[in-house]
Amino acid sequence: MKEFRIAVLPGDGIGPEVMQEALKVLDAVEQRFGIRCVRQDAAVGGAAIDAHGSALPEATIHTCENSQAILFGSVGGPKWEHLPPDQQPERGALLPLRKHFGLYANLRPAIIFPQLRDASPLKPEIIGSQLDILVVRELTGGIYFGQPKGIESDRAYDTMIYTRLEVERIARVAFEAARSRGKLVHSIDKSNVLNSSILWREVVLEVARDYPDVELKHLYVDNAAMQLVVRPSQFDVILCGNLFGDILSDEAAMITGSLGMLPSASIAGSGSDGIPFGLYEPSGGSAPDIAGHGVANPIAQILSAAMMLKYSFGQDEAYQTIFTAISDVLSEGYRTGDIASDGTTRVGTAEMGDLIAGKV
Ligand code: NAI
Ligand code: MG
Repeated sequence: MKEFRIAVLPGDGIGPEVMQEALKVLDAVEQRFGIRCVRQDAAVGGAAIDAHGSALPEATIHTCENSQAILFGSVGGPKWEHLPPDQQPERGALLPLRKHFGLYANLRPAIIFPQLRDASPLKPEIIGSQLDILVVRELTGGIYFGQPKGIESDRAYDTMIYTRLEVERIARVAFEAARSRGKLVHSIDKSNVLNSSILWREVVLEVARDYPDVELKHLYVDNAAMQLVVRPSQFDVILCGNLFGDILSDEAAMITGSLGMLPSASIAGSGSDGIPFGLYEPSGGSAPDIAGHGVANPIAQILSAAMMLKYSFGQDEAYQTIFTAISDVLSEGYRTGDIASDGTTRVGTAEMGDLIAGKV
């Protein structure tokens, strides 16, 4: 039996509620596919601050180091907002985790299930029959980290740097992903203005030679922002640097109109065991406004677990099975409050988890 070790970090707010449902679905996947995900729980975020005085205790880092992937809930809430910024749940836990594990590739799917087309702010004829975009964003380089940066009384500056190595490894992630999807990569840059983008384009072109089965197109970032709302169906994989990816991944997410449906993955290159280490979490936050009521949508967390099975553990079939299970449950009309509409059956967090696990 194939065995994988995962660290489970539920966090705050709706985190623990939706995590429970993701683990329920993992149980079903284990039974069906004869694999095992050995789970170890660890404290993170506000919950960890309360229990151990730090958003990311040493013991949690150890648990993660002894695992092959991290399944992360969400962190934060009003209770911890008075703390200094770098001690707050998000900055004190997520950023250090990304840095510690070198999670340079951020994968953000923007998927519209046809059953939820009404939720999109875009007109149905613009969405088309289905929408399935994967934004691959470089996460540890670019202008957010480039030196020098500084602020003086009458001028301030940041530096946009990309190295050949940084571009090459993120481009490979995008092309590999495209290979198992629609076989199309749009590389985003601003090479008419930025030097770092000239190198970006050059390296992406080089990497593309190793993937003759994947089509490559280049788009300037301003045009990409327009194309996303004019004709989103033209996209399959969108490859971008840190800054452009921050903006475009949020834009793509909002086209779907349902935050509670969107997972994300932050992965590092393959480790010594050939397994790409990754952190998998919903795109949304801890939703303190609905936490504790059992109404949160667990699908983003369930899809995050599905991405873990696919990207870290190579279990494509398990991923597809979870995806189909979700689609079937939606087709039968079941909805949590955030995606409910007239004529659908409203269910809570646990019931939605039961339904999906049942289908698996
Ligand atoms: P949020 O994503 O938590 O909530 C925004 C809105 O979306 C709320 O109305 C919420 O109820 C709804 N929502 C989010 N996920 C949902 C789900 N699964 N089902 C149903 N509705 C859902 O963002 P907000 O309000 O800006 O932040 C709340 C807290 O979460 C803050 O403390 C923030 O720092 C933290 N946060 C944590 C993140 C993380 O752990 N990665 C990411 C973003 C925010
Ligand atoms: Mg953002």
